[in-house]
Order: sequence, then structure tokens, then C-alpha cells
Amino acid sequence: MKQSPIEVFNQWAEIGKDEGMADGHRSAVLQMLELSLPETPFSFLDAGCGNGWVVRLVKSMEGCLLSEGIDGSVKMIKKAREIDRSNRYFRDDLTSWSPSQTYDIIHSMEVFYYLEKPEELLAKIHDKWLNPKGRMVMGIDFYKENTVSHDWPEKCGINLMRLFSEQEWIQMFKEAGFEEVNATRLDAKDNWAGTLCLVGQKS
Ligand SMILES: C[S@@+](CC[C@H](N)C(=O)[O-])C[C@H]1O[C@@H](n2cnc3c(N)ncnc32)[C@H](O)[C@@H]1O
Repeated sequence: MKQSPIEVFNQWAEIGKDEGMADGHRSAVLQMLELSLPETPFSFLDAGCGNGWVVRLVKSMEGCLLSEGIDGSVKMIKKAREIDRSNRYFRDDLTSWSPSQTYDIIHSMEVFYYLEKPEELLAKIHDKWLNPKGRMVMGIDFYKENTVSHDWPEKCGINLMRLFSEQEWIQMFKEAGFEEVNATRLDAKDNWAGTLCLVGQKS
């Protein structure tokens, strides 16, 4: 029987699969940061931060004033807090959480297709989570053009994975209010279409 994304990632944290996942995402995430981080001092939030490895990586970078993470998995957040007592990690569902402050950068790697209505979170991030001129950067491997990913809901036993095309994601960013929306495919090779990376800016 399939389970919810958060149930599955709780189990992944328990058996240590979060670390392999971080290794697998590292190359794309480094490029996403390169595409989105400003040269001026900035605050940063990782939406769906897993064990928090990107929060810690970004906090060590020049210009980072504040780096925080949120994830729905109790066990991912427990790990993040055990590794790192200085940055804040919130345990909540992204669709109902409201941050107590706004950020310059909202980053999210391999999370948005686990949401029933990703367009609603994008709009909320644009309207309420970001500072003026702030950026949203999203990376996903599960999308229509990356056909090798299409069997992941079966393979991973996850009951909520929404499959959209690159154009549909671009449209969602634009309809949420983002400007200068840019889509890039990172590390594409052979039959792997690459990590689809979208960056959008708030006016
Ligand atoms: C594939 S993992 C990626 C984790 C991290 N971004 C990384 O690159 O290592 C997806 C993460 O999204 C979280 N997640 C999925 N749906 C969520 C939701 N509705 N609210 C909060 N977190 C969610 C899961 O708990 C999991 O940690």
C-alpha cells in the first residue's frame, strides 16, 4: 500500500537514506544556489529541507545573514536539530505553515511535486514569504519530460506525486506573480532530462 510523502521520508530518515539523497542532490543544488543567491547580504529558507544540509551549507556562505529550514517529517527535523543547534528548523506542513518573518531567498529541492496544489504554495510564497525583489528557486527531477522518473510513485510507494511539464511549471510561477521566470535543466545526460530548475523574482 502506498503512503504519504511525509510518512515515506520519515522512514528514509530512520534508515539513513537522507544522507544518500543529499549526496545525489548536491550537484544540482550547488548550481541552483549559484543561479539564485544575490551578491548583497540575504536571508534564506529551505522549504522541505530534509535533514537540513542545505541550511547549513548556505549559512557558511559569505553574505548569509540567516538560514532556516522547514520540513513535514518529524524524523528529518529531529536529525537536523541534533546536527545543528544554531540554525532554526521548523516541523510543519508547508501547505499550512506561515513563517513569522519574510526572506530574500526561498529554496526548494525535490519537494513541490509532493503537494496537491503546488500553485497555491507558490502564490503564498510570492505574496507572503518573500521580501520585495526576493527570489524563489525550485529544483525537481519528477516532471513530464524526464520520462525515466515516471515510475517513481510505484517504485517509492508514494501516494501523492503530481506530474507536470516544464511549461506547466513555468506557467504556475508566472500565475503566482513571479517575474523574470527562468527554467534550466541541470546535469542532463543520456536519458536523464536533468533537474528542472525554475527561478522567479518578486517585483
Ligand atoms: C525528496 S526529499 C528532499 C529533501 C531535501 N530538500 C534534500 O534535497 O535533501 C522531500 C522532502 O519534502 C518533505 N515534504 C514533502 N511534502 C511536504 C509537505 N507537505 N510539507 C512539508 N514537507 C514536505 C519530505 O518530508 C522530505 O523531507
